[in-house]
Amino acid sequence: MERTSRFAPGAFPRTRLRRTRRYDWSRRLVAENALSTDDLIWPVFAIEGEAKREAVPSMPGVDRLSIDLLVDAVAGAGDLGIPAVAVFAYIDPALKTPDAREATNPDNLICRAVRAVKESHPGIGVLCDVALDPFNSDGHDGLVRDGYVVNDETVAVLATQAVVQAEAGCDVIAPSDMMDGRIGAVRDALDEAGFERVTIMAYAAKFASAFYGPFRDAVGSKAALKGDKKTYQMDPANADEALREVGLDIDEGADMVMVKPGLPYLDIVRRVKDAFGVPTFVYSVSGEYAMLKAAAAQGWLEYDQAMMECLLAFKRAGANGILTYAALEAATLLKRAG
Ligand code: PBG
Repeated sequence: MERTSRFAPGAFPRTRLRRTRRYDWSRRLVAENALSTDDLIWPVFAIEGEAKREAVPSMPGVDRLSIDLLVDAVAGAGDLGIPAVAVFAYIDPALKTPDAREATNPDNLICRAVRAVKESHPGIGVLCDVALDPFNSDGHDGLVRDGYVVNDETVAVLATQAVVQAEAGCDVIAPSDMMDGRIGAVRDALDEAGFERVTIMAYAAKFASAFYGPFRDAVGSKAALKGDKKTYQMDPANADEALREVGLDIDEGADMVMVKPGLPYLDIVRRVKDAFGVPTFVYSVSGEYAMLKAAAAQGWLEYDQAMMECLLAFKRAGANGILTYAALEAATLLKRAG
């Protein structure tokens, strides 16, 4: 409708956007987005042993923990109100093989960690990656044949891996491998095994990113990795293709989808949320965490403020939730703010 007015719409000096910014109370009233502890998923790293804690040098503040300490750490996250944790593991290099057979061992470190966490804290959601990289002597997410990561053969192993993790008590199966057709295969395998209530969060738009380096240190896959992951993870140049990936994963049965990494891919988060309106998650990856920690250690950034600003940016972009290594720090700050 055409507006007839002697005032140009929105014109200064009648309009002064600084009015609502003037006070804390008015800023709070007009805030369009908010971060809540309910939005956070905390990734944790398990190692073998007892009472063992190993710092990950490229991720200051992140430790690999033996299962007993991991269970305690998860209790702390639960006390802060964090809804879910993502369990990763540093697998003994001696157990890594070209067929990644440890991935489907029901007593592998991830399954034992999941069982222990669910036994002590049944009310906390547990998410597990489905991918072969921690178990594969090639460091790749899939099986390598003649230098190529083969798709269909890998998908068959991933489906078994998902069932084994569900048996251990995993609530959310999160395929992070980027093979074609894996969501459908994992859904079918879970349903056939009686796990129709287990949720799938698809790493749907996962990019071949330089920001995963510190994570590969944490799980010990960097040394093993030959080459890069560009034949299966997405090209950072592509956004339309990300929507195709997400659409396929939803069609195949994904309950929730994820975009990864986070900060350099906020445009993808927004487009996915607008296009599909499904629960949309973002993984603020190890390199993002390392950048903030490194700058803060130099005194070049105020860590808490910069970190919270980044988390809020994910909400503004449309994310329902965020996987972040800063989950405990963020939840502590939110609690303090009341
Ligand atoms: C394994 C996996 C990776 C991450 C999560 N799952 C690394 C990779 O794909 O190489 C990265 C997480 C991070 O960097 O924080 N498929």
